[in-house]
Amino acid sequence: MRISAILIVDLSRNYIVISRYLGERNRYPQPHATRLYAWLVQNLEPQRTQSYTEEFTPSAVEADQCFTLLGTTGNRAVPIRIRFRFVSPGSIVTFYTWQMPEPDLLPTLQQYWGYSSFRPLQEQIVGSLLGGHDTCVVMPTGGGKSLCYQLPALVLGKTAIVISPLIALMQDQSAQLAQMGIPAAVLNSSLDPGEQSRIMAKARSGEYRLLYLSPERLAREDTIGWLRGVPISFFAIDEAHCISEWGHEFRPEYRQLSRLRAYFPDLPLAAFTASATRRVRHDILQQLQLSNPHRYIASFHRKNLRYLLRECTGYEQNGLLARALGNYPDGNAIVYAPTIRRVEEVVEFLVEEGTPAVAYHGKMDAAARRQNQERWMSDEVRVLVGTIAFGLGINKASVRRVIHLSLPKSVEQYYQEAGRAGRDGDSADCLLLWQKRDTALLAHFTNQIQDSAEKERSWQRYHQIVDFAQSKHCRHRQVCLHFGETPKWASCGSCDVCSGLPEWLATASEIGTSEANRVAAVHTRRPAQQSVGSGSTRSIGQNAKFDPELREYLREWRRTAAKEQGVAAFVIMHDTALDELCRKQPKTIPELLNVSGFGLKKAEIYGKKIIAALVRFREGARAKGVSTESGLRT
Ligand SMILES: Nc1ncnc2c1ncn2[C@@H]1O[C@H](COP(=O)(O)OP(=O)(O)OP(=O)(O)O)[C@@H](O)[C@H]1O
Ligand SMILES: [Mg+2]
Ligand SMILES: [Zn+2]
Repeated sequence: MRISAILIVDLSRNYIVISRYLGERNRYPQPHATRLYAWLVQNLEPQRTQSYTEEFTPSAVEADQCFTLLGTTGNRAVPIRIRFRFVSPGSIVTFYTWQMPEPDLLPTLQQYWGYSSFRPLQEQIVGSLLGGHDTCVVMPTGGGKSLCYQLPALVLGKTAIVISPLIALMQDQSAQLAQMGIPAAVLNSSLDPGEQSRIMAKARSGEYRLLYLSPERLAREDTIGWLRGVPISFFAIDEAHCISEWGHEFRPEYRQLSRLRAYFPDLPLAAFTASATRRVRHDILQQLQLSNPHRYIASFHRKNLRYLLRECTGYEQNGLLARALGNYPDGNAIVYAPTIRRVEEVVEFLVEEGTPAVAYHGKMDAAARRQNQERWMSDEVRVLVGTIAFGLGINKASVRRVIHLSLPKSVEQYYQEAGRAGRDGDSADCLLLWQKRDTALLAHFTNQIQDSAEKERSWQRYHQIVDFAQSKHCRHRQVCLHFGETPKWASCGSCDVCSGLPEWLATASEIGTSEANRVAAVHTRRPAQQSVGSGSTRSIGQNAKFDPELREYLREWRRTAAKEQGVAAFVIMHDTALDELCRKQPKTIPELLNVSGFGLKKAEIYGKKIIAALVRFREGARAKGVSTESGLRT
């Protein structure tokens, strides 16, 4: 059934809000609210059937409409299984006991995000948060976790507090939300004090649907007192594995989050992570003191990724890297190097080889680092070479390959870093070019750890990653097993073990020759190999053809728009949206709204400009810069 409105009974605010599905609100005065509320509290046990009649004069609602009730006891939203209908306009309300259905969220998804459907588990997770449940979500990189808290934050109408480890990540998200017409802000200590107090005051008056805070900020003494005055809907903890010492990215500040339950016992808490073993999941639940949480664990099998592991010597590595990059004429790459020196070496090597690349590491000054990151984010340079300092929270969906030049410290770390490839769902390669001596180095570092518990954890991680690299079992399967998932299949058809190494990565004896390999190779043709960008049209992802010149023209338009607004290019639109623009070439705003990723607000901001750019292209305009596709712009 279709729900046309959500009714929120909220005594703390002294009114009943009837939000006509995100439309305007009608406020009903206190006496009504109290009586209705008293009745609701008495009847919270869903099994009892009761009917209740009350004089009610809803001026703005028509007869016979159905509503979902979200009651609140104290501050905590509880789903109430009741339906009520207006028997005749402006008179009697009748209540029935009733299972609360999932509200129809698709119109909101379409209106704000411009997406026509949910990804796996998203709808259930949103439902959980709308129902006021503690929630724990493990979903791989690119699975779409952000939407799972952003959408309920929007629908619930209060303020969701999002804790996230990185300022850049929070800023990106809040910029993207602004472009969708959803009020959001980031509060961090890098803002000047005046700006901080403005945001804090606005937050108190409930102006934001989402407010992003760093864990450090939350730990500050004055923060809790101020938060008590904010009308909070729920807390969302992003990258929640940072709370666990067993996780590969333990952040001591995250431990402060365990105070949340004590300070806000009635508010739902939701934890989100892309990589958590059973152990880490257990830690998350325990540290945050989640109570009977709804748990959602998506599969760790990311079918669009191809894992290719190759042991090599130090002499071979650069050559293999060059071959690998040369084999992908299009799209973006991240190369992970183990040390700052190696980062610099590799950049130098690649530039000499004619492949423009930029560096990213902790010893560069902040401005240079930021500039390199931006040049890569905006597609000016295709290849970024970084230490592991790069990437947490990097929100670029169209990375076509991630290449590691040494063994990471753990399978989780590898899964997360490699997982930055293909977040848009199109196919991508994850290459691990490791050397024997990596294992010795990892062992050496582990040996140096003083704390005995930490040392033990480190040895465990060491054995797991070394087994992973040396094993002759399907890589995808190993990853799944590592995270406690038992796949029903034994072979994935897209890893070096199941399909052999591709020619450009293998020595003659290693090239996959079996029938299975041949079949797999046919089924997993990489988009990057289907064409080399020189033809008049190319096919990517969804097989529809489009003009590469148009793509380049729109990319240039997007870069300019992003610079004007001081945001990253993907904040304007993702590559997937850009490619769809090329395919559909909308001529009107309604046509533009059919392009995935264009909600109402975005169409309002950019619609006319994009349509005008498409007209200019048809009239002969072309990108001015040297094509980035050929990698010549540096
Ligand atoms: N229902 C949907 N339909 C289409 N695209 C979607 C949908 N949900 C999310 N996306 C897109 O998927 C991409 C990844 O989403 P998101 O950043 O939320 O991933 P994530 O799970 O948080 O990953 P990470 O672990 O890397 O932070 C984004 O480009 C997002 O816009
Ligand atoms: Mg995320
Ligand atoms: Zn496999």
